[in-house]
Amino acid sequence: MSTLRCIASGETESTTSARFRSRAGGLFAVEHDLEALGEGAPDLKARFDARLSELSSPYSSGVWRYHELILPDLPREAIVSLPEGNTPLYRRRGLERFIGLGTLWVKHEGENPTLSFKDRGMTAGVSWAKHVGARRVACASTGDTSAAMAAYAAAAELPAVVLLPHEKVSLEQLAQPICYGAQVLALETDFDGCMGLVQELTESGEIYLLNSMNPFRIEGQKAIGIELLHQLGWHVPDWMVIPVGNAGNISALGKALLELSALGVIDKLPRLVGAQSAAAGPLVKAHTEGYLRHVRVQAQRTVASAIRIGDPVSYDKAVSVTRELGGLFVAATDAEALEAKAAADASGVHVCPNSGVALAAAKQLVSDGTIKRSDSVAIIATAHGAKFSQAAIDYHTGQAGRRRNPPRVLPARIDAVRAALSS
Ligand code: F0G
Repeated sequence: MSTLRCIASGETESTTSARFRSRAGGLFAVEHDLEALGEGAPDLKARFDARLSELSSPYSSGVWRYHELILPDLPREAIVSLPEGNTPLYRRRGLERFIGLGTLWVKHEGENPTLSFKDRGMTAGVSWAKHVGARRVACASTGDTSAAMAAYAAAAELPAVVLLPHEKVSLEQLAQPICYGAQVLALETDFDGCMGLVQELTESGEIYLLNSMNPFRIEGQKAIGIELLHQLGWHVPDWMVIPVGNAGNISALGKALLELSALGVIDKLPRLVGAQSAAAGPLVKAHTEGYLRHVRVQAQRTVASAIRIGDPVSYDKAVSVTRELGGLFVAATDAEALEAKAAADASGVHVCPNSGVALAAAKQLVSDGTIKRSDSVAIIATAHGAKFSQAAIDYHTGQAGRRRNPPRVLPARIDAVRAALSS
């Protein structure tokens, strides 16, 4: 039902191959024969609805509920699922007020088993790796990919190797792959350096690459958008805003939207916004310049450490879908991202600083009139705040934050507690 096709040259490759760049150097994408799926939109929707009552794996998963749209050639028995997905779609009045919108949805991908959206990609990537006979898997990571890969590799009983930039991931993110039993190599470089090395390491095919260059991961991540729209009864918001680092996830979201539209499951397309940190914004620069050249930057230190990437691997895919969906790329500073994160957190939706970048980007676009106050907007929150506790503690105990809420240390006496509550 599917083939690999290079997005630049059109070269095709078998889906059992572990080669993820074409001879021209372009990335492959999984191309599905949508006509062969061809039961028509009403039948597909009815099938997805019927699976909502599934309690057992794999169709209880918020990825495999959409099996036909993800990896139709993967046998059901080959699925490795924790399970993942079924993440909440929050609507909070306080957050809508903060951003300046009447309708704001937050799809909280931090409520996945390893606390980020990467689980959706890894259930697809690790299942496929096992299916095509991989013996060992590897990835480079800013922290979340490695946590998810290590968890799914452990479930599939596959040895895993992760390459992390030393001291550039949070402690919680470092602990995850260690606990799941992966071999953790902390390299004295940045993410872009790790990404270059993992491509060399996996070139011979002996170790199977599970970064989002691997197009099967992208297929799993499409389920974020599919599930979000299913939750909205297939009504499409005017805008979708998503944080961007290596640019796989925005490519996945765009691909999902275009396929759903081609199948007739949805009858309109949203505009897409890629949000980057001002400290690492090659795609924002490219957008500002009118996409005249391929922009690479040296990524600087940022509180949004998971998107500290200067040379995104899925750059071409991201530019292509974003332009096709009338979208744009916008940057937010650390201060803006932390205020936005604090507003989400205080509404009961605890998100990571990277998601704060997306919330801040939406706020900016509402302020400058690009997004109308009456527009409906869905933000993809990509990881849980609990993975980045140091950033939260620094914000709440520092001086700059408008919503700072530091804990108070008191003597263990009732009068001291009462005095603190009345002050
Ligand atoms: N948000 C979080 C929390 C992430 O971990 C990442 C990427 C992104 C957003 C951006 O997604 O790369 O597909 O554009 N983290 C990768 C990692 C790079 O290694 O965990 P993207």
